[in-house]
Amino acid sequence: MPSSSLLYLAGLLSLAAAQVYVPGSRPEGSFTWVQPRNTTVLGQYGHSEPFYPSPRTTGAGGWENAIEKAREFVAELTLEEKRYMVTGQPGPCVGNIYPIPRLNFSGLCLQDGPASLRTADYVSAFPAGVTIASSWDKQMMYDRSLSMGREFRAKGAQVALAPALGPMGRSAYSGRNWEGFSPDAYLSGIAFAQSIHGLQDAGVQATAKHYLLNEQEVLRNPVRYPNGTLQFEAISSNADDRTVHENYLWPYANAIRAKASAVMCSYNRVNGSYGCQNSKLLNGLLKEELGFQGYVMSDWFATHSGVASIEAGLDMDMPGYFLPRAFSDSGDDYLSFFGANVTQAINNGTLEMDRLDDMITRILTPYYALGQDEDFPTIDPSSAKLNTFVRESDYFRDFNLIGPSSRDVRDNHGEIIRKHAAASTVMVKNEGILPLKAPKRIAVFGNDAGEVTEGPLNQQKFEFGTLAVGGGSGASLFTYLITPLEAIKARSRQDGALVQAFLNNTQVVNSNVTNLWNPQEPEVCLVFLKGWASEGSDRLTLDLDWQGNELVEKVANVCSDTVVVTHSSGVNNLPFAQHPNVTAILIAHYPGQESGNSIVDVLYGDVNPSGKLPYTIAHNGSDYNGPITTDVETTGVDDWQSYFTEGLETDYKYFDAHNISVLYEFGFGLSYTTFEMTGLEISPVDTDTEITPAPEKREVQPGGNPALWETLYTARVTLRNTGDVRGATVAQLYITLPDSAPEGSPVRQLRGFDKIELSPGQRGTVQFDLMRRDISYWDVVSQQWLIPSGEFTVRVGFSSRDIVEVATFTAVEN
Ligand SMILES: *[C@@H]1O[C@H](CO)[C@@H](O)[C@H](O)[C@H]1NC(C)=O
Ligand SMILES: *[C@@H]1O[C@H](CO)[C@@H](O)[C@H](O)[C@H]1NC(C)=O
Ligand SMILES: *[C@@H]1O[C@H](CO)[C@@H](O)[C@H](O)[C@H]1NC(C)=O
Ligand SMILES: *[C@@H]1O[C@H](CO)[C@@H](O)[C@H](O)[C@H]1NC(C)=O
Ligand SMILES: *[C@@H]1O[C@H](CO)[C@@H](O)[C@H](O)[C@H]1NC(C)=O
Ligand SMILES: *[C@@H]1O[C@H](CO)[C@@H](O)[C@H](O)[C@H]1NC(C)=O
Ligand SMILES: *[C@@H]1O[C@H](CO)[C@@H](O)[C@H](O)[C@H]1NC(C)=O
Ligand SMILES: *[C@@H]1O[C@H](CO)[C@@H](O)[C@H](O)[C@H]1NC(C)=O
Ligand SMILES: *[C@@H]1O[C@H](CO)[C@@H](O)[C@H](O)[C@H]1NC(C)=O
Ligand SMILES: *[C@@H]1O[C@H](CO)[C@@H](O)[C@H](O)[C@H]1NC(C)=O
Ligand SMILES: *[C@@H]1O[C@H](CO)[C@@H](O)[C@H](O)[C@H]1NC(C)=O
Repeated sequence: MPSSSLLYLAGLLSLAAAQVYVPGSRPEGSFTWVQPRNTTVLGQYGHSEPFYPSPRTTGAGGWENAIEKAREFVAELTLEEKRYMVTGQPGPCVGNIYPIPRLNFSGLCLQDGPASLRTADYVSAFPAGVTIASSWDKQMMYDRSLSMGREFRAKGAQVALAPALGPMGRSAYSGRNWEGFSPDAYLSGIAFAQSIHGLQDAGVQATAKHYLLNEQEVLRNPVRYPNGTLQFEAISSNADDRTVHENYLWPYANAIRAKASAVMCSYNRVNGSYGCQNSKLLNGLLKEELGFQGYVMSDWFATHSGVASIEAGLDMDMPGYFLPRAFSDSGDDYLSFFGANVTQAINNGTLEMDRLDDMITRILTPYYALGQDEDFPTIDPSSAKLNTFVRESDYFRDFNLIGPSSRDVRDNHGEIIRKHAAASTVMVKNEGILPLKAPKRIAVFGNDAGEVTEGPLNQQKFEFGTLAVGGGSGASLFTYLITPLEAIKARSRQDGALVQAFLNNTQVVNSNVTNLWNPQEPEVCLVFLKGWASEGSDRLTLDLDWQGNELVEKVANVCSDTVVVTHSSGVNNLPFAQHPNVTAILIAHYPGQESGNSIVDVLYGDVNPSGKLPYTIAHNGSDYNGPITTDVETTGVDDWQSYFTEGLETDYKYFDAHNISVLYEFGFGLSYTTFEMTGLEISPVDTDTEITPAPEKREVQPGGNPALWETLYTARVTLRNTGDVRGATVAQLYITLPDSAPEGSPVRQLRGFDKIELSPGQRGTVQFDLMRRDISYWDVVSQQWLIPSGEFTVRVGFSSRDIVEVATFTAVEN
């Protein structure tokens, strides 16, 4: 193994290792600086119940035929082959399970990530998770992943390391929030499930990640001294049972019900026990309570034990080998907590063969269920060249790299990406300047407007160039990226416009702007701002990068129609929002490769904006709760603790519980037309049967007790487009539990939404199905979902704070 490759691996590992803030470099906002182990608080949070043995898979819920094929295959395997089935090896993909040619098994190729196939050429760069979440469009959530899944398949990847949810957005500062969807469990659950359906309908295994309570980047991995002694254990996320169920586990129930093939366990500890060896999390919640029939794979290097992790529910170790001695002399016997240790543990009687067989059956059942044993495309050799983990072809043993290289799998996905990104753009301010009315003098400002000039598109935090995705394993390799400036030039040419561009933020901020443009004030000043975020670090500020605030201020002081467009990972401070000359603000997040085209479609009114915020924009970064925990001035090995004491109060549930005024609330977004919503009606689905507080005990299926997914009530509203242009909006339903619900219940929580498109004057009806789980709370005593007695309040409207109609119903009498 040449040392260059080892160095490459070491570099990646250090990227993945915990980052330590330097004392004195305190970021703004609500960071917790020292949060050492506190025995008082630990009394409430410090313990994960043991849950053994690991539940065996049954194939329940539709995989009955596939599991038979998997069992037949397992019966043919030697012990040596079994060990390789559960342990990743170096190879052409980001994660690799060796092929077994003797049995016609092609092996498994696992590839990043949630916004595109990261390590391949001629693939599409899709809108990020937070972007598509802003569409609030269930069909688009599905279509995006269906297209992406087709690309994974065509490139020979059986397993997509997607979709991501975790971080969910407990902290606005978390560096990976953009890979996922929303801090709201209900919205995230639907986006998660739709993404899984999309990928798997394309024949690719979906991996729901990162499980669980993976809410920050810093301190996420343990740290060792150079001599190998442990210096710090990874951060422990300590959350109570109700918060786990109602907030963080909730979307995983949707994912398992959607038959996600794999779940990736996370780097962090939960209640003191590592995510990949926490038996309560893996055996108890995931496999028993939610009836998960697929396999648990570790995040990269997140396995910290062998048999102990296996007994706790881990089924596959990724990447399977570890540093510093990743490659032994024999070339294929890499050091691993799994690997040869699995063989040994079976031989010495520590591990039961039945559990090892269960692990492999879990891994192979989705493979057969998705028909991956038939005509699956070979791995595109270009992936091997682009693999950031291992680049040496010596290690691609037995992988079929014979297919044509650099296959173009993009199809018509560029059109879909353009449409999705435009539909996901959130307009939070418009004083009438938009849509643009064929302006003839346009000034474009900001280093986010133009070409990337310093390296591969969007791979780092470059000063110049439009930003269309974030960094780390969720990044994309763009084949092209349409910039806002080139799209504006192309679109405005039909109006014969004069377009001037000023892309150096420093220069503009230090200039007298009136001397820059020529010869007179532009009709519109378009300011493009960006905010970089990446795996491996959390954000130190919610301000936009490169003096974004100063840039807007400078332009708006002399330009009476200043339109601000942001390309960022999520929540930002928008101190210029009230500036009278900032007459429109568009939040476009990370839109993917068609960025410029999709924003121009919205600016010029070819697309009527209909995106809604999937989170809250506060007045100030210091208004948010759920701080990132950092390790400054702490030395104890077990000191990295994060207490989720806010319970269910994340994002709008926190702001609502404390009546904190916000700049733009959860669910908010404007349109070029107006809508009216009337006629809220709620009725029980079954008027004959009395509703019981507890669900009927039925056999667990993927997703848990099927009774939880039964629709008990339906609500309906009628919408009408009262404006002049066709457009779409999102009807939203929020529920307030009766007073009998336990303390800590959210003031209101999203429990239904639907997007509807209407022509001027047209009416349409939206129906919300309220399932048992939607109107229950998790009862920590009886360990089940209960419907509280008394009166529910149902609110419908256009955002969490723009409520149009209210109604009540009682499911269970006092
Ligand atoms: C531990 O937590 C309790 C309860 O929040 C608090 O009162 C106490 O001051 C904390 N102790 C330390 C040493 O931080
Ligand atoms: C973590 O500890 C709390 C308090 O004991 C408990 O309510 C919760 O269920 C635990 N979570 C897990 C996943 O063990
Ligand atoms: C493998 O595939 C070949 C060709 O399709 C077939 O002849 C052979 O029987 C298969 N072997 C097994 C073990 O399935
Ligand atoms: C390893 O290094 C740490 C920090 O220098 C030291 O405290 C510890 O005693 C060392 N352990 C061994 C086994 O040498
Ligand atoms: C087995 O696991 C241990 C850690 O528990 C590790 O030190 C050892 O190298 C592993 N053995 C092999 C052959 O990978
Ligand atoms: C059996 O093998 C496993 C894996 O190498 C090891 O952890 C364990 O200590 C061994 N047990 C005995 C009794 O030798
Ligand atoms: C941007 O403008 C600043 C200030 O005028 C200047 O120092 C810097 O060199 C410029 N950057 C580029 C890449 O031209
Ligand atoms: C900027 O330049 C204009 C035109 O030359 C001038 O009228 C104005 O006073 C200058 N503003 C400042 C703040 O220097
Ligand atoms: C708005 O822009 C105009 C230039 O058209 C300028 O005169 C005015 O001072 C600006 N308003 C503010 C509040 O900066
Ligand atoms: C935000 O809050 C911090 C701390 O309360 C304060 O120092 C800062 O001035 C605020 N910023 C704005 C723009 O209001
Ligand atoms: C928030 O406002 C509501 C309605 O005005 C009031 O009932 C409630 O007590 C307030 N909550 C807090 C925490 O101030």
